[in-house]
Amino acid sequence: MPVTGRSVWNHVGQMRRHLLALACAATLSATAIGPAQAEWDESYFPNVELVNQDGVPLRFWDDLLRDKIVVVNFVYTDCPDICGLSTARMAQVADWLGERIGKDIFVYSISLDPETDTPQRLRDYADAFDAPDGWMFLTGSPENVDIVRFKMGERSESLSQHRSDMVIGNAATGEWRRASLMGSLVVLTEEILSLDPAWSRPPAIASMAAIPPGQLVIKDTLGEGLFLGACAACHTVGEGIRVGPDLSGVTLRRDREWLKAYLMDPARMLARKDPVAVELDSAFPAVRMPNLQLNDTDVEDLIHYLTVQTELLGQPQEVAEASPHDHAGHSGHDHSGHTHADGQHDHSH
Ligand code: HEC
Repeated sequence: MPVTGRSVWNHVGQMRRHLLALACAATLSATAIGPAQAEWDESYFPNVELVNQDGVPLRFWDDLLRDKIVVVNFVYTDCPDICGLSTARMAQVADWLGERIGKDIFVYSISLDPETDTPQRLRDYADAFDAPDGWMFLTGSPENVDIVRFKMGERSESLSQHRSDMVIGNAATGEWRRASLMGSLVVLTEEILSLDPAWSRPPAIASMAAIPPGQLVIKDTLGEGLFLGACAACHTVGEGIRVGPDLSGVTLRRDREWLKAYLMDPARMLARKDPVAVELDSAFPAVRMPNLQLNDTDVEDLIHYLTVQTELLGQPQEVAEASPHDHAGHSGHDHSGHTHADGQHDHSH
């Protein structure tokens, strides 16, 4: 499926909206849930065969939907922008759903690029996000994938236009809805759980209002909202590798101009064979650092945030400019030296 210049530009607008939504996700009271889909029962869903990341063939209705609560979205591993972020956010939801994943709740991320996304490629992608067993990454013949995606409402004509929302439903009760990974993840997790008629919302616990004002710590939060919404799903600062490298000290080990250029357009740096970008890409082969369509202010705020967070960790105060020719910095020794294949990445979320 060719990606035309025009559709890329449409997509940029779309990405920007996602980012804005993310940056203020904490203030949103609900995810964008559309009207319930009427009459989605066994007769509606195709029973075609797909293949999971372990190469196991599975029928869409019989094996994947029947009697289950499911979350279905569409991604592809070569995706330069939104898929990685959606998948990382989905990993957070999967974490909260805990042991119900694989028992009565299943997550299906179906590839929109089945010819490229072989089971092995999807396996590597799933591993990079630490996906639990009940979260399957599915591929199949292009015909079968098309039949499924059309029925699920994913009808975009080029990869870059694909929807970032998803469908959640309970195939036993016939209740189906649209949901978004770009709003509050707590609300989304509750939306999924509430598809189980037996689930009841836990009583609200201590809210912010209950904390005595004197105990609220005032801190420097410039860039924090953006980092938490758009980056934290894949990166920690000081807590080890998540999906991407630990960013503690990144403002020290990388030159500032390099960092700006990389955050703005990591794929372009890679295409230009920038040595650091190439090295990072080979240390983290399964997932790409996404292009999040950041503007100058976003990038400044994020660099500020990373600098402050690194300082808080008590790292030695070096200035990156002190070694202008050493762009790769300590990367040979830092966490990015451990590939996921080593099984070294941090499992504590
Ligand atoms: C989907 C996961 C994902 C998201 C979301 C993400 N990144 Fe990354 N990031 C990566 C991966 C993976 C790499 C390693 C390079 C590669 O494989 O492309 C990386 C590399 C980086 C690097 C280079 C690190 C170094 O050692 O030089 C920086 C800086 C960075 N990301 C910052 C960010 C910031 C800031 C955000 C949020 C605006 C963000 N990333 C969002 C996955 C992600």
